[in-house]
Amino acid sequence: MTDKYESFRLPKEVKPIQYDLFLHPKLKQKTFSGKVTILIDVLDDRRTIALHQKDLNITTVELKTYGLEEDYEIKISSISNPSKYEIFVISTKTDLKSGLYNLSLEFDGSLKNKIVGFYSSTYQYDSKERYMATTKFEPTYARQAFPCFDEPNFKAEFSVKLVCPMEDNYHALSNMNIENIEYNKPKNNLMTTTFAKTVPMSTYLACFIISDMEKLKMTAKGLKGREFPVSIYSTKLQEKEKREFPLQISVKAIEYYIKLFQIDYPLPKLDMVAIPDFVSGAMENWGIVTFRETRLLYDDRNNSIIDKRNVVNVICHELAHMWFGNLVTLSWWNDLWLNEGFATYMSYKSADEILPNQKYMDQFSIDVIHKVMVTDAKLSSHPIIQNVKNPDEITSFFDEISYQKGASIIRMMENFIGDDFYYAIVSYLDKYAYRNAQTVDLFKVLQTTNDLLNITDIMDTWLRQEGYPVINVERQLNKFVLTQKRFLSDSNASFDPSKSNYKYRWTVPITYITNRNEISTLIWFDKDADQVVIEVDEHTKWIKLNVNQVGYYRVNYGTEWEPIEELLRTHPTRLSIADRANLLDDLYSLAAANEIDYFVTLSITLFMFRHEYHAIPWAIASSKMIEIYTLLKSLPVTRPATASQFQVFALKILEKMYKDVTWTVNDAVEDDLLPTSIDNEVRISVLELACAMGHTECLQEAKRIFMDWLTLKKMPHPDIRELVYYYGMRQIDEDKWPTMFQFFEDETDPTEKNKLMKGLAGVKSSTILKEYIDKARDEKIVRTQDFLKCLIMISTNPDGTLLVWDWVRNNWDFLVERYTLNDRYLGQLIPAITKSFATETKLEEMNAFFAKYPKAGAGANNRAKALETVSWNIKWLSEAPPKIDEWMKWYFTSGYVFK
Ligand code: BES
Ligand code: ZN
Repeated sequence: MTDKYESFRLPKEVKPIQYDLFLHPKLKQKTFSGKVTILIDVLDDRRTIALHQKDLNITTVELKTYGLEEDYEIKISSISNPSKYEIFVISTKTDLKSGLYNLSLEFDGSLKNKIVGFYSSTYQYDSKERYMATTKFEPTYARQAFPCFDEPNFKAEFSVKLVCPMEDNYHALSNMNIENIEYNKPKNNLMTTTFAKTVPMSTYLACFIISDMEKLKMTAKGLKGREFPVSIYSTKLQEKEKREFPLQISVKAIEYYIKLFQIDYPLPKLDMVAIPDFVSGAMENWGIVTFRETRLLYDDRNNSIIDKRNVVNVICHELAHMWFGNLVTLSWWNDLWLNEGFATYMSYKSADEILPNQKYMDQFSIDVIHKVMVTDAKLSSHPIIQNVKNPDEITSFFDEISYQKGASIIRMMENFIGDDFYYAIVSYLDKYAYRNAQTVDLFKVLQTTNDLLNITDIMDTWLRQEGYPVINVERQLNKFVLTQKRFLSDSNASFDPSKSNYKYRWTVPITYITNRNEISTLIWFDKDADQVVIEVDEHTKWIKLNVNQVGYYRVNYGTEWEPIEELLRTHPTRLSIADRANLLDDLYSLAAANEIDYFVTLSITLFMFRHEYHAIPWAIASSKMIEIYTLLKSLPVTRPATASQFQVFALKILEKMYKDVTWTVNDAVEDDLLPTSIDNEVRISVLELACAMGHTECLQEAKRIFMDWLTLKKMPHPDIRELVYYYGMRQIDEDKWPTMFQFFEDETDPTEKNKLMKGLAGVKSSTILKEYIDKARDEKIVRTQDFLKCLIMISTNPDGTLLVWDWVRNNWDFLVERYTLNDRYLGQLIPAITKSFATETKLEEMNAFFAKYPKAGAGANNRAKALETVSWNIKWLSEAPPKIDEWMKWYFTSGYVFK
């Protein structure tokens, strides 16, 4: 092979125009064979054609001119094996002149032991093993199904033929509608389905499914009176009623996007398919979106309010991709945020519209902004736009930064651009439809909406450097003086400002409200300015910046935390739910980073005892307090006071709420809620906090409900099941574990099965936990797609953490063999199981493990992140407890009265 192919990228001079693809999976043997004819446009004179393939056995290659009066065959001199770049090269005997050619290849491959590319998924029904074949191609796995130009900017049209059995209602699905079925072809009991030709699209969006799944169908409205069918597919094992809710949501979501963009969904049908074995959450193949079963199927009887949110969220995310990603596609993976950031943001936006009472936009703070702000406050973070070359780098780029930070800065941008934002977005979608775009293309279009701001200059500070600022507020008589600096979870961490072109300064849209003006005002903090001043009058008592946390930054109010404390204690609802949530998250994060004292954070938290009823602030308080308590508990036994005092404090804060929420779920209340009524989501956060803090009555109740379930089969309400299973299991004799395990094995609802899996992980006995891992390793018991999650669940149980850590280190080769180093979830395993480690010994063990297995694949960044977290834990434990002690001393001796 010549030097010019020493790269992961294909030369641009050979372009695919159309693929004619024939695939014949042999479901029982778990193999497939196929033939592809690719019409290519050769732009220069050459002797070689390079394309992608991985793990395929190519049996014949034929190259022919196309469109001449008399087409002729070009002799091939050699075909290389795929290189480490997953590229193979066809060399011709004579020069190829520029022009059109048909390249035909025959090949075969395996469907077995895979969960990406073209693979086999199975399930049991009627005591029989049922087989199907399905695909997952993004980002670089189409090349495992057929030889192709597997880069997003090589868009082409696909004509697909699929072979499937004629028995048992087997049928074939692909991106387009069926044009024709030939029965008994290629031989008896087989049929060949021909699909209509696709619109021009990237290889990663192709999809082929051969299965005996069943569907539920509805009609959706396109533009100009057009109608098209939307269907939900799932296996026969899954109850039919589980398809109803996702079908309603899918129709609403696709209609919402069509209306918003005024660009029709261009395909004649939309299928949403729940696959029993699925590597990620879902995949936006054009016209045929595939899902993990738990992310699509839902019913009120068995699934919880959180399951419902997850289903809505995923459907809305994937359908947003039909425009952001499928119609307009990133040119290269560097710009992944153009796909994933937009889909993530649009999913909240659309869910908020189609289910207006569910407060999806408030949920955005905790699901999206708060989560990624933790990751992005570490030195191991990375810019949203970054060069990625190989498949491992590309896979690991599907991370919180591309999704959540991408979504957060899109929301910020929408807000400062205003109503013209969607107008511009629509022109961008129109302009680049069926083509590829880069970040600069988007900004050029957005710039047309605005003469005053330089969109690129502003946005580059957020996109092309990692991290984000904290805005410090100082009151000077009748003004507030603002300054900015980079926020890091470890405020002493050193970094080199010259490493970034923007010196870790940001152009920040600052918004604020005060007691004198509760309408949000916007001012700019330019990256080159030293400070920004907000003039106010002498009656201004408090200021709240970052209104509704639309901006991606933190705020430290310094002395001005005091009026905020008073406001929350006396008039909490003058601040919106999103603002209260923002304050709490900033308070805990700033204290953890040593930017403010825990005295401030914990004192302000006291308002929650009587004045906070809403689920979002409680979700934050709950997770922050559990985090602190977990770390404090790992202090040496010689220093138990801080943890137990913190526990008493936390139990006090939730005392009243615990009584109000109760364990009884009110099915009638779900929609509009008065600020003082108890909704079904706040219950979960409060009960979880109470259980984690060892609330005696709460734990007893969990145990009672658990025993009623285990012995009398009285099903708890789905909303509280996971808590009941987990905390119930933690409190009962371990000899009950096998009964629960049997329930788990017999369960067919995948969402319920997950809850049982979590419950089983709660047992205290390390012998049983070990046995659990051994059992779960068998893919007949726990599907490959769920095993890593199972390990993480066990490691979250304090009695299981070390056990899982040992097991993972001893079985690393097995895990790599099963998942490959390219697996995103395998990469995330290490940070997940080590996140509570807080000693030098553990840090050394981690370093030793990484040294022993230097190949990290798609997990490289996750390793850096894990080490940084553990070092941070160690540091926090050496500094924070005395400060918490100090506040506790005040709290316990001051005779503080809750008002
Ligand atoms: N495009 C992705 C699927 C994907 C994920 C491809 C990772 C390659 C690597 C899809 O749209 C997606 O983002 N799925 C999410 C779920 C979503 C609701 C955030 C996933 O699978 O995690
Ligand atoms: Zn996505």
